[in-house]
Amino acid sequence: MAGAKILAFGGYQPDQVVTNDDLALRVDTSDEWIRSRVGIESRRVAGPEESVTDMATAAGGKALAASGLSPADIDLVVVATCSTILPMPSVAAVAASRLGIAAPGAYDLNAACAGFCYALAAVADSVVAGSSRNALVIGAEKMTDWLDWDDRSTCIIFADGAGAAVVAAVPDGEPAGIGPVVWGSAGEQGNKIQVTGRTGAITQDGQGVFRWATSLHPLALQACERAGVKPSELTAFIPHQANLRIVEALARKLGIPRERVADDIVHAGNTSSASVPLALARMAEQGRLESGTPALLMGFGAGLSYAAQVVTLP
Ligand code: UT7
Repeated sequence: MAGAKILAFGGYQPDQVVTNDDLALRVDTSDEWIRSRVGIESRRVAGPEESVTDMATAAGGKALAASGLSPADIDLVVVATCSTILPMPSVAAVAASRLGIAAPGAYDLNAACAGFCYALAAVADSVVAGSSRNALVIGAEKMTDWLDWDDRSTCIIFADGAGAAVVAAVPDGEPAGIGPVVWGSAGEQGNKIQVTGRTGAITQDGQGVFRWATSLHPLALQACERAGVKPSELTAFIPHQANLRIVEALARKLGIPRERVADDIVHAGNTSSASVPLALARMAEQGRLESGTPALLMGFGAGLSYAAQVVTLP
């Protein structure tokens, strides 16, 4: 096979909306501070009974329905997640079974907020190598399980949700729809965002991560170069939704007009590996994606891990 392409997206958010004012009842913060420093107006939080696997299944089901494929067509399911409480069984195996996908290859992958871009690359390589025909790739997170609700530097940022994409092979002779990934990590800076101990909460060096993330534009340029696409040709830019100021700074440095840039963080919060596919699904719903044109995906976060690739929009 010459390459792989995305057939469809799907997104899922839990029902409960938590506003900035709700958080200001608990910690010393304000709607004005959160909007101006992070860009979030509200976020979604899963209930105590709703798991990463439930959300992964919901998003995966939507992507599968939108793709026109049936469960029998899928032979690989990969879930990017860094927040599942129970390490076994994998979210991927259980979500696949709930979706009626019989005996697929199934595994979870943890590259924190870069997870979806990592998983998409792994799945695309698998399809191109012939190890699988059609794959379901999901980013799903319940970040609120790992929050200290009294820590105002983190509880205002992170949220819950899931997003998914169906990936298929491109027949010989047709151009690939998922460009080469540019990825990496900086484990020596692993303490910049971390959970310490089994029952710990997320802590981060917010300013350090902010500076690092806003200097990642060369990664985006490399992904464009490897795909043979100029940044000016991108019709959509979907960076990890960590902070709207990071999103806007990256877009400015790349010269991508604001209307082409995902801003899902405003109502979704930072959903780690779910943020890129969730933002894609939202942009598709809003009619902001142009089929057949190039879009740049970019993930970055704990690790410090990062990945970017250009995809052709379905
Ligand atoms: O998914 C990837 C993971 N993480 C990220 O991408 C995070 C990247 N970093 C950020 O988004 C930002 O650094 C934060 C949103 C975490 C913080 O924003 P900031 O503009 O860098 O604020 P800061 O840490 O420089 O703090 C400025 C002030 C401090 O008060 P003092 O020391 O100046 O009196 C903080 O204590 O703001 C205070 N502060 C808050 N005030 C009101 C910190 N959090 C809050 C808050 N409400 N929620």
